[in-house]
Amino acid sequence: MNFFVRRPWDLPQKLHTTPEVFGDRKQHRRDFLKSMGVAGSGLLTAGIAGCSKPTPEELEQAGQVESLPESKDTIFPAARNEAFEYGRPETDQFEAAYYTNFYEFSVQKDSYRYVEPFKPTPWTLEVAGECDNPRKFDLDELYKEFQHEERAYRFRCVEAWAMCVPWTGFPLNKLLEKVSPKSSAKYVSFQTFYRPEQARGIEAYPEFPWPYTEGLTIEEARNELVLLATGVFGEPLPKQHGAPVRVVIPWKYGFKGAKSIVRIQLMDKKPVTFWNDYNPREYGFEANVDPTVPHPRWSQARERMLGSGDSFETLPFNGYGDYVGSLYS
Ligand code: MTE
Repeated sequence: MNFFVRRPWDLPQKLHTTPEVFGDRKQHRRDFLKSMGVAGSGLLTAGIAGCSKPTPEELEQAGQVESLPESKDTIFPAARNEAFEYGRPETDQFEAAYYTNFYEFSVQKDSYRYVEPFKPTPWTLEVAGECDNPRKFDLDELYKEFQHEERAYRFRCVEAWAMCVPWTGFPLNKLLEKVSPKSSAKYVSFQTFYRPEQARGIEAYPEFPWPYTEGLTIEEARNELVLLATGVFGEPLPKQHGAPVRVVIPWKYGFKGAKSIVRIQLMDKKPVTFWNDYNPREYGFEANVDPTVPHPRWSQARERMLGSGDSFETLPFNGYGDYVGSLYS
């Protein structure tokens, strides 16, 4: 199949807004995904379908989270950890929040259009499985119990777009220490919410193995680079970036970083993960950024920055080899 025969932005608006009107939804969805080159394959290299961009105010309004605990004022903005630098220009905040991948809402990068019904507060993050002190954290506890910092990280999507954004968060390892993993904990899985009533994509795209889950080995999860992010650009995460808490793993393709997570499970076996389950040929479990291994449908040698459109060579481990190379030797 020629992936570029028909691009999402060529589709009539009704095809990507109200699939239900086409009778058998599952069949429609299969046809729809096929027309986009997604069926039996996976992520897109597509732009946002539809018409004009929102204004910055409209975008901010769309992503804003109501009723965060007051303790957020002690977190944002957090002090920058100067150990991390992009080595490239920072991505514009609007461009990063405008072009997002959040399939629970949309497969077309425009999740900001559909996040209104999503309610990220109150929120509970459960940490369970192979550990001695399983626990549930609400947002107030996450804000109060963990020293937050800001980190300027490069971010590389498997679709060959990239961004440079400052995340606010804390090392995942700090949270793992609190629950005391057992020696049987070999893997860590991350699970996103399952709320079809708040996230239209869950029912609109029944082919996908919901809920969204991702995973790391325990050694990877303990690496100092892995952040549990509660904010970006000095503010709490907007809904479309994965409010109120997500995972950021800068040396791996972006799909490894599950958004809006409700559960972290320590496991003795390798977890099943969303993209690897959906299409193992195209999306591996490890998914380290590697310019020498092309995706079956496109090269991974270069990347295009959101907003500026600048093109850069992709670096092994997205440039973080000094931190993580030894994990894989
Ligand atoms: N997490 C959930 N729950 N659902 C998703 O669709 N998309 C992933 C990842 N986390 C995704 C997700 C992909 S493919 C990428 S590239 C990043 O989120 C994008 O993060 P951003 O949209 O905040 O830039």
